[in-house]
Amino acid sequence: MTIGVVILAAGQGTRMRSSIPKVLHRIAGKPLLGHVIDCARALDPAEIVVVYGHGGEQVRAAFAEQTDLRWAEQAEQLGTGHALMQAMPELRSAEQVLVLYGDVPLTRPETLHALVDATQHGFGLLTVTLDDPTGYGRIVRNEGGRVQRIVEQKDAGAEELSIREVNTGIMCMPRAALVRWLGGLSNSNAQREYYLTDVLAMAVAEGLDIQVRQPASVLEAEGVNNRLQLARLERAHQGRLAEALMHDGVTLRDPARIDIRGSVEYGRDVEIDFNVLLEGRVVIGDNVRIGANCVLRDATIASDVEILDNCVIEQASIGPGSRIGPFARLRPGARLTGGAHVGNFVEIKKSVIGQGSKVNHLSYIGDTDIGAGVNVGAGTITCNYDGANKHRTVIGDSAFIGSNSALVAPVTIGAGATIGAGSVVTRDAPAEQLTLTRAKQVSLNWQRPTKKK
Ligand code: UD1
Ligand code: CA
Repeated sequence: MTIGVVILAAGQGTRMRSSIPKVLHRIAGKPLLGHVIDCARALDPAEIVVVYGHGGEQVRAAFAEQTDLRWAEQAEQLGTGHALMQAMPELRSAEQVLVLYGDVPLTRPETLHALVDATQHGFGLLTVTLDDPTGYGRIVRNEGGRVQRIVEQKDAGAEELSIREVNTGIMCMPRAALVRWLGGLSNSNAQREYYLTDVLAMAVAEGLDIQVRQPASVLEAEGVNNRLQLARLERAHQGRLAEALMHDGVTLRDPARIDIRGSVEYGRDVEIDFNVLLEGRVVIGDNVRIGANCVLRDATIASDVEILDNCVIEQASIGPGSRIGPFARLRPGARLTGGAHVGNFVEIKKSVIGQGSKVNHLSYIGDTDIGAGVNVGAGTITCNYDGANKHRTVIGDSAFIGSNSALVAPVTIGAGATIGAGSVVTRDAPAEQLTLTRAKQVSLNWQRPTKKK
């Protein structure tokens, strides 16, 4: 059976108080609508149609790379039924139509699979039972417990208002019948809207098989209307991600204090201390320890690496057995071959640090190739920028750079060379020799001034 998914996303989202359309606000770094689209894709649908309205161009632009998405504009928000009408011409081959909301981000694919499988060619409805059902459409059942219709909060009588089983909005219907039902909708109700929910009573009247399912958690049906709900769902989602990591064998010192905004791959015995942010694509090997307050963004960390507290690592890779931090910053293009030590207040950009080399304190290494076994002393700066262009520095194997040296690129330090502390190196330094540019030290007889009486 072919499924077509329609995602309703035309609502204004006024309560976000934002100039960004609601469905582009993010959870775990991904737009709300992106979560819904990804969940829909897990069903392998024949087509996905997004109904957009407010801020539509911005929304379309945000998903421009997903060229298979179809878009239907709902210029005026006249209700969920009206929204679905706009999508129908875009559905070509679907036999069953699954309706999702663009602002309900945490539905799990398993839940939708179960609903679709149960529904087959009938009518499927996802409901939840809430302690406080205020605002939701209530599920009205007959004495036999069979679902009859959905009544919206504003149209409900006192008895209906006491019903705690509510419509999540997620439903699955045969396309041919849906076209007919949508044609029969009217807006003679309290909100003067075309309610999609009214099609349920039509399906019941036609004797369709109605399948009702509930998700494992009500979180799966929760929508985002304001920033409080956004934050709450963010935390809930992060909680799920943290649990999945722990089930997979990752130690989290505090699962409430890790944020994942992207994909993480990890080996065995990874340990992560509190307040860590993993963003983009992060790959972590075996026996890696990540200290408190670290940010890893598009980073590859090999096995047996220790990242001490307060490091920021972005578009960088760290080879096996390295030790980084505390307070180190690896910027895009930093590549540590392995066994490296990078210490506090060291910044590395577009540079290779060879096997076993050390940059332990207060240094800037930019556009540099450092060989193996090099020791870079405290306060070393590669002067890579002349105000117009960037230039490279090359440091050969086993070189020793004395503290507080400035290496003015382009410059090459030969293998085994030693640079005396405090040197400003503007010309290539030969291999195996001591190069130093410091002024000669002198000692003079000299009287220190004293304070005038
Ligand atoms: C709707 C349901 C209600 C259900 C609730 C669950 C109807 C009539 N009511 O309520 O039974 O309990 O969802 O949250 O369907 N949208 C459009 N175009 C419109 C109106 C809405 O695209 O003209 C989209 C919104 O962007 C949103 C979704 O449809 O993603 C639901 O709209 P919303 O106004 O939040 O739901 P209600 O109508 O209050
Ligand atoms: Ca509404």
